[in-house]
Amino acid sequence: MIIPLIKPFITKEVKDKVIEVLDSGYLTEGKVTKELESVFQKYIGCKYAIAVTSCTTGLEVALRCLGIGPGDEVIVPDYTYPATAAVVTIVGAKAVITDVSKETMLIDYDLIEEAITSKTKAIIPVSLFGNPLDYDRLNQIKEKYNIYIIEDAACSIGAEYKGTKVGNLADISVFSLHPRKFITTGEGGIITTNNQNWADWMNSYKHFGIINDNGREGIIFENIGTNYKLSNVLAAIGLIQMKHIDELLDRRIQLSDHYFSLLKNISEATVPVTTPSGKHNSQSFCIYIENRNTVMKHLRDKGIEVQIGTYALHKYNAFNNNTQIVLKYPFNGSNFSFEHCLTLPLYHDLTFEQQRIIVTELKKLF
Ligand SMILES: Cc1ncc(COP(=O)(O)O)c(C=O)c1O
Repeated sequence: MIIPLIKPFITKEVKDKVIEVLDSGYLTEGKVTKELESVFQKYIGCKYAIAVTSCTTGLEVALRCLGIGPGDEVIVPDYTYPATAAVVTIVGAKAVITDVSKETMLIDYDLIEEAITSKTKAIIPVSLFGNPLDYDRLNQIKEKYNIYIIEDAACSIGAEYKGTKVGNLADISVFSLHPRKFITTGEGGIITTNNQNWADWMNSYKHFGIINDNGREGIIFENIGTNYKLSNVLAAIGLIQMKHIDELLDRRIQLSDHYFSLLKNISEATVPVTTPSGKHNSQSFCIYIENRNTVMKHLRDKGIEVQIGTYALHKYNAFNNNTQIVLKYPFNGSNFSFEHCLTLPLYHDLTFEQQRIIVTELKKLF
């Protein structure tokens, strides 16, 4: 028996749409990508959505759009996927890495203020695993220091803060469409913003710097740009999944609630806290336990795919041996999450019975 960690939502409807695109002969970015952008924009309730090749390239585009580069500093959390900090160095700026709260696994808002200098241009907080950020706190900091917020919303489609969807809260937000996320195009990302000038710039930059794409003769290459276009073939997968987003989200939340009730009486397993006034999208279901590695091995031996949460960046050479990185020690929250977080299987057709098997195996170790 194998219970996978995740399972992408690939139905006949998805396959049919991909075949339709393949048969059309239009495989590059085009009409289907535009449809995906439009559906995404409406779902989030923001003004603009721009498809790109990944969350990583989207974050890079966002930083470039805001003119962030050499001489600038950007504050990022230590406990995150490396891309969050890597992109800052890719545009030539310095990433100032600060600790996270052990309770929420999200950036510690007090430490952001301590890390701000006259060179700070932006923060990239991460709504990790679908836990929304506290925008009351973030907006206070933004206004006080006049800095931008670029949200790494890789995991957070459908999450909300005080009734507003993630993607409609920051200056610019960037989602991932990697298969760990429940809307996936294999590889891909979506940038959202409400600022038209930024949207135009980002659209142009990811599209060779073109500003007028009305046919070969009229085309204008206004700026140096790159190619971060998302192909129609990949967009087709996400487009069909977006039709089912409400049911996929509801199902994840239902499964998450079921995990909560199964784990209720197990004092050895605690669950990170959702931001007050926030709606977690249950992208990942994480618990904190002692002896995480022993438990992880036992579950894997039983055919249950489990995983650590994410990474403590300061532990890796790429970040602790790099003149473009400033590490704001100590990293107590990040170290704790890195050592104790365990991610349990969660996907649309996971059953209550499979959850019971997982938690029963887990209990054997306590
Ligand atoms: C928090 C976070 N940021 C960025 C990324 C990178 O996303 P992508 O693979 O779409 O570039 C991930 C991927 O898992 C992530 O979890």
